[in-house]
Amino acid sequence: MFISFEGVDGSGKSTQLELLWAALVAEGREVVATREPGGTELGERVRALLLDGPTITPWAEAALFAAARAELVEGVIRPALARGATVLCDRYLDSSLAYQGLARGLGLERVLELNLSAVGGLLPDRTFLLLIDPLLAGERLGEPTDRIEREGQSFRAAVDAAYRQLAARFSERIVAFDGARPAAELAAQIRADLALAACARADLARAEGTPVA
Ligand code: TYD
Repeated sequence: MFISFEGVDGSGKSTQLELLWAALVAEGREVVATREPGGTELGERVRALLLDGPTITPWAEAALFAAARAELVEGVIRPALARGATVLCDRYLDSSLAYQGLARGLGLERVLELNLSAVGGLLPDRTFLLLIDPLLAGERLGEPTDRIEREGQSFRAAVDAAYRQLAARFSERIVAFDGARPAAELAAQIRADLALAACARADLARAEGTPVA
């Protein structure tokens, strides 16, 4: 199963990824946790360019995120899924849709097309989106540590609006939670959603007469 976590900077998604990782490992599952941009040697170099490098035009930025993502999918995510591991990804293509497609104004459809080509159409089975008041997210973050965080409050608000739009558009895949809730409560809600999804898959497999993965 392929699960991604999304949200504005300061939404608490990385904490939730770590909590889910620990819960799944405790159940004895093989879990591969990775992050974007990054997760491969090339991806980490692209990350440094994107977050600490010089000014980048919006399409160059989108293309670099897509390049790092293509590498991560080929080198890490597909091989892990093929051997039956659960993959947890801290950000995936929805980040590009929200930040580059909508907040930077490149266009949702065009950025989606670029990214679907880059990853050979691979989408997460589930995307957990942590929604939080962008002002509160800014307070949680404190001093900005990278180029995109330095964009400031109005950009963060645009990214928040973008994520809400994505949650409506991809409602079968994206599950949104209130990121202001206590971390342990959110973690329990995420595990409950996954348990329900697993039951639904088992029901479907039974109905179709196929073995449950
Ligand atoms: P991330 O490492 O998740 O930062 P943090 O852990 O502080 O949330 O992401 C780095 C920044 O890159 C973040 O501001 C979001 C941005 N980003 C995009 O603009 N597009 C993308 O496709 C991705 C993956 C990230």
